[in-house]
Order: sequence, then C-alpha cells, then structure tokens
Amino acid sequence: MRSKIVAGNWKMNKNLAETEALLTELAAKLPDTNAEVMVAPTFVNLASAVHSLESSTINAIAQNMHFAESGAYTGEISGDMLVSIGVDTVILGHSERRAYFGETDEILEKKVKAALAKNLRVMFCFGEELADRKSENHFKVVESQIKNALFSLDASAWSSIILAYEPVWAIGTGETASADQAQEMHAFIRKTITEAYNEEIANNVSILYGGSVKPANAEEIFSKPDVDGGLIGGAALVADNFVDIIKAI
Ligand code: 13P
Repeated sequence: MRSKIVAGNWKMNKNLAETEALLTELAAKLPDTNAEVMVAPTFVNLASAVHSLESSTINAIAQNMHFAESGAYTGEISGDMLVSIGVDTVILGHSERRAYFGETDEILEKKVKAALAKNLRVMFCFGEELADRKSENHFKVVESQIKNALFSLDASAWSSIILAYEPVWAIGTGETASADQAQEMHAFIRKTITEAYNEEIANNVSILYGGSVKPANAEEIFSKPDVDGGLIGGAALVADNFVDIIKAI
C-alpha cells in the first residue's frame, strides 16, 4: 500500500532563527495523522532541523543534491553529505531547479541514480508549463519527464520513489489545478508506469500534487483516489496553514 505524505518545501525561505521557530511550532501543533509529514528547509539549516526534530515524527528532507560523489563542484551538496546528517529523502527535479538552474532530464536521471545509490528516497517533481496545457500537450510533457529520468530504473528502485506532480502554472500563482485535473493526471501517470513496469509498482508509488495547495482547497484535492498527498510551498511557511493541510489528509 502506498503511503500518504504531506511535505513542505520551504524553498529559499527562513533563516536559522525562523527555521527553529517554525519547527518548534509545527512539532507542538502536529495533529494525529497516518500521513508522513516532511519539511524541506534550506541546506544551511538542514542539519540543525534534523537535530531539532529528533523527538518528532516530522522528517526533515533535502531540496536538492548533486549527482557527483564528491569533488570540485563549488556550492554543491552530495548525497553522502545528506546521509551523514541523518537525511533519508531528497527532492529532485523541482520546476524551479529546471527553469532557473538548467536541470535537464538527463541531469535528473543522474541525480536520481546517485541518490538511490546512497539509499536516499527520491521525491521526484515534474509538471507541464501553461503553454503545454493550452496546447493540450500536458500528458505528453509529463510522460516524457517521467520516462526520461525514471524509466531506466530497475523495478526494485521504485519502492524508494515518491512522485510529485506540480504543474508549473499552479506554483506560487494562487491558481491551483482543479481536483479533477489533478486526479486525471495522477491516473495517467499510474497508467504510464503500469505500461512501463507493472500495475503493482504503479499502485504502490505515492503521487503527490503540488501547486497552490492551501487549507481551503486541500481536502478536495486529497479526496481524489490517485492523489496521495501534497507538496506544499507558500502555505508550508505558516505553521497553522501547514497543520490545517495535514488535517485535511
Ligand atoms: P506553492 O504551494 O507556493 O504554489 O508551491 C508549490 C511548490 O512548488 C512546492 O514544491
């Protein structure tokens, strides 16, 4: 059975004091839930976040990593470094990494393999741009993003993969995909994985929706059968909002 997940991607927000304050508030207000709750603070505060959350069920995860083992990659972070501070999950392929930092499918395939080789779980993000949806190419775009980065993996690797469908036009815009649009895409993703691998793998992978998820729309989106949770940006930066979204699942 696939698990329910609510993850907060804090992006480039919150300094050290703000990180500690938000984690303390979240840990205190965390509702009873069967869902796995994750937060992804900035790298500079990740080790202290792991430490602060030691007695909490909230999992601190990474926003990115490099594919190389180590070496002359100024400013980059390796999988081994993440593991060494107690991180077990890394977000890869976020649309902001693709758009602003030139991350291609080819680079992402290498990153995914490097992360899995370190026994990290990968939360793999993908999603179409507005022009793709307007031209009705959204299924094709999503299929190729998943296929190019993930379909060379062995079947056994899929137990360490979490998918996050984040249509670019819905990120930070206040415009969310409708629950039906999310469901339609998530079902398509499962069908694509069934064809490439098998139904068991497709049914066991958690597929999160991301893009302007708020307390007001979370319940409807999460009620869809193929939506297993959310990857939350802006609303994850305010404890009460994030807590309400966790309650919605
Ligand atoms: P928003 O929730 O701010 O739209 O961001 C979504 C996102 O990009 C999460 O990774």
